[in-house]
Amino acid sequence: MESAEIRRRWLRFFEERGHTVVPSASLIADDPTLLLINAGMVPFKPYFLGEATPPYKRATSVQKCIRTPDIEEVGKTTRHGTFFQMCGNFSFGDYFKEGAATLAWELLTSTQDAGGYGLDPERLWITVYEDDDEAERIWRDVVGVPPERIQRLGKEENYWDMGVPGPCGPCSEVSYDRGPEFGEAGGPAVNDERYVEIWNLVFMQYVRGPGKGKDYPILGDLPQQNIDTGLGLERLAMILQGVHNMYEIDTSRAVIDKAEELTGVRYGAADHSDVSLRVVSDHMRASVMLIGDGVTPGNEGRGYVLRRIMRRAVRNMKLLGADGPVVGELVDVVIATMGEQYPELVADRKRIESVALAEEARFLKTLKAGTNVLDTAVTEARSAGSGVLPGDKAFLLHDTWGFPIDLTLEMAGEQGLTVDEDGFRRLMKEQRDRAKADAAAKKTGHADLSAYREVADAAGATEFTGYTHTDAESTVVGLLVGGVAAPAATEGDEVEVILDRTPFYAEGGGQLADTGRLRLGSGAVVEVRDVQQPVPGVSVH
Ligand code: SER
Repeated sequence: MESAEIRRRWLRFFEERGHTVVPSASLIADDPTLLLINAGMVPFKPYFLGEATPPYKRATSVQKCIRTPDIEEVGKTTRHGTFFQMCGNFSFGDYFKEGAATLAWELLTSTQDAGGYGLDPERLWITVYEDDDEAERIWRDVVGVPPERIQRLGKEENYWDMGVPGPCGPCSEVSYDRGPEFGEAGGPAVNDERYVEIWNLVFMQYVRGPGKGKDYPILGDLPQQNIDTGLGLERLAMILQGVHNMYEIDTSRAVIDKAEELTGVRYGAADHSDVSLRVVSDHMRASVMLIGDGVTPGNEGRGYVLRRIMRRAVRNMKLLGADGPVVGELVDVVIATMGEQYPELVADRKRIESVALAEEARFLKTLKAGTNVLDTAVTEARSAGSGVLPGDKAFLLHDTWGFPIDLTLEMAGEQGLTVDEDGFRRLMKEQRDRAKADAAAKKTGHADLSAYREVADAAGATEFTGYTHTDAESTVVGLLVGGVAAPAATEGDEVEVILDRTPFYAEGGGQLADTGRLRLGSGAVVEVRDVQQPVPGVSVH
């Protein structure tokens, strides 16, 4: 069954059972405690907490999610992905444990002709939280699961929270037995590779306070008992499509196929190249979805998440032997496979491509040289008898060669070294302080004027509208990053923008330049700190 069909069936099943279908929210969480949406329930959090009244008692969605804590496991295991889709059904003070369990069982085990997923009930195993007698009783007596296929697990596995203060509760998971070729018997409590978790039913009842891991206080009850469930679409696809891991399902495999074609490396040829192909597939999918939702590569927050995964994808393509830019074609495959479910990707293709291409171009320029710097530093550290890459080398790699610190950690790790992260962070802070001090005094340099002249030749002089207006609508006719023309820029970049008309007064005649903002059609905002005319008549913001 195709991924798109799994999604359609999910939504239809719950809609027919009184749930309102809610479209996936953007990955950019509208929640100050979260960078990116990491579970289907996130958009519903105010309803669980009783901060807002839900317009429905039951809802269902297929939500785009990103999780990065296990990024280094991607490609090495069956089921770690940074991007995935979580199918969910939610009850806000309506049905509770029994309703959730019976609905889940019905959808999983009813035949495909009857609209279900047609899984063999004998292969389904259940886990419940260690003291949740009620859940065990429901699975056994109401649903009819044999007691030997119900197991109890502790807080780590069967208690769910968002990782931050908020709603939480015990949960119950449904796992699928992939069979003896995937390892020893004994149920999900002993073997989570063979018995793959597919669906998590959370009995959302309590509010948790701050704490590390599962060590937090329960502050009290939620205003009502709720249900939050999450089924991993890609995991179910893996089972229904009879493939061995998540990267081989229809939507991901298409990206692997393209990467094979671009590099000439066959999937299945060797373990290390298989891992690289899977990383490329996962990370390119995540990158396209992130850019689609308006994230641009940068050095902080979401921008950093995107930069890190994009650069990992580019590096893995290089490891596979790719020569030159490849990201454009990979982006196209992702859009082709995901566009039916997310039509906005198709509509926004040009922008997504240009952001991805710009990031690839920037990284490719320095990847080879940076890798040499890193290898040399590793050799030096080793011959000095040290297992630690010095902080100044990590800083150099970041600052000059654009290596995200996590990439340096990983590449050093591959050669058996750790990195002096404290030293790295100290140097980063010193640099930030210096930059702040400089910014006040800074004036644009204009050593090489040819890029500005080219814009002037093509677009003519800038029309100045500032004698009568303080705002204007205009067209970008030139963009420079680091003094050279660039097709796109990303969050956090210092850019020079040339417009066909502008209300900004450029420094001259003894007057300082205007400051203000440019709002671009894409929604991006550029802070204008200075305006200069390096070439007469051409205003550079
Ligand atoms: N919130 C739960 C999870 O993320 C169930 O949706 O697993």
